[in-house]
Amino acid sequence: MKKILVTGGAGFIGSHTCLVLLQKGYEIFVIDSFINSSRKSLKNVLKIVDEEKKSSFSKKLKIFEGDIRNKELLEEIFNKSRSDGNGNGIEGVIHFAGLKAVEESVNNPFLYWESNIFGSINLFDVMHKNNCHTLVFSSSASIYGKNQTGKIDEYSQINPINPYGTTKMVIERLLEDLQRSFNLTWRIASLRYFNPIGAHYSGLIGESPIGIPNNIFPYITKVAFGALKEVRIFGDDWPTIDGTGVRDYIHVMDLAEGHIKTLEYLFDNKPNIINMNLGTGKGFSVLELINTFENVNNLKIPYVFNSRRSGDVASLVANNSLAKKLLNWEPNRSLRQMCKDGWKWQFKNPEGY
Ligand SMILES: NC(=O)c1ccc[n+]([C@@H]2O[C@H](COP(=O)([O-])OP(=O)(O)OC[C@H]3O[C@@H](n4cnc5c(N)ncnc54)[C@H](O)[C@@H]3O)[C@@H](O)[C@H]2O)c1
Repeated sequence: MKKILVTGGAGFIGSHTCLVLLQKGYEIFVIDSFINSSRKSLKNVLKIVDEEKKSSFSKKLKIFEGDIRNKELLEEIFNKSRSDGNGNGIEGVIHFAGLKAVEESVNNPFLYWESNIFGSINLFDVMHKNNCHTLVFSSSASIYGKNQTGKIDEYSQINPINPYGTTKMVIERLLEDLQRSFNLTWRIASLRYFNPIGAHYSGLIGESPIGIPNNIFPYITKVAFGALKEVRIFGDDWPTIDGTGVRDYIHVMDLAEGHIKTLEYLFDNKPNIINMNLGTGKGFSVLELINTFENVNNLKIPYVFNSRRSGDVASLVANNSLAKKLLNWEPNRSLRQMCKDGWKWQFKNPEGY
């Protein structure tokens, strides 16, 4: 089976994707600096898959602690992959590693350009030199401009409004250049995620933000647990069904499965570059999310309204028809399931990992 390098594989989306890769039989090499994650996530991934398959998968998951800005380490991983097992090296990369806090990126754009862009240049260079040209890149819906109505398709205006989104746009541009310059070589997919939430149903892996969460869902789960007092809802006067912002929430396991489908699509097709939305195509308001969470888990979530935050938009919902068509992929876990699984993770792991 193919060997896959997963950068940032210990993180929220990375750990769920590693689980699906192992379930499908891939051998994985993970590089992670653990700047926003813990080794325990991957230990628990092994726990889940060992239990499911009734055998040990530890030999199929190799973990390297380090930063993607460290080229020597990346080289070492590619070399090790060739001296291992069948002698074939890493054939594909899923690139999650990166910083993702919007506010931090506004306060420290140098850090975001350095870490996300320089790290990605390093990675792509080492891939190229090692003749590995299949890449799935974690982009983001935050690259889309904010003055858009209706569902967002891949041809919608690109106009990020913060340094985090800019780094994703710049990396996409770099990948387009690589594809143009070496057009018979690279197979690339930039996946533009909408709002991944929830957790694996076991409650063994999930989102474990360090400090106060930036995103609404882990904030809700912390309020549910009593670690935070109330959810702050930014704006009650948006032009939406109830005045609160509408977002496209996608279960992290649907997202993880989308990555494996994408990787397999790339392996099975001619060199190409695809920019693709991964979302459910359904929008829910903040109040609908809170109500669903309360109903499913039989809990009360206190909330208050604050004024709108600058840079927020009324609604951000994916047109996901490209992914459905190309990948034969369907996100099928409901908002209720996301709320149930996300709460189970938080309840079982109040302090995270
Ligand atoms: N979670 C979301 O809402 C969301 C939405 C859109 C896009 N994305 C993107 O998806 C990717 C994964 O997101 P996530 O939610 O799993 O985040 P995460 O922070 O949980 O995971 C990122 C992982 O990368 C590691 N990392 C960060 N910088 C690194 C570096 N320079 N070298 C090595 N490792 C490094 C972190 O330790 C972490 O394990 C990120 O690139 C993020 O920008 C996330």
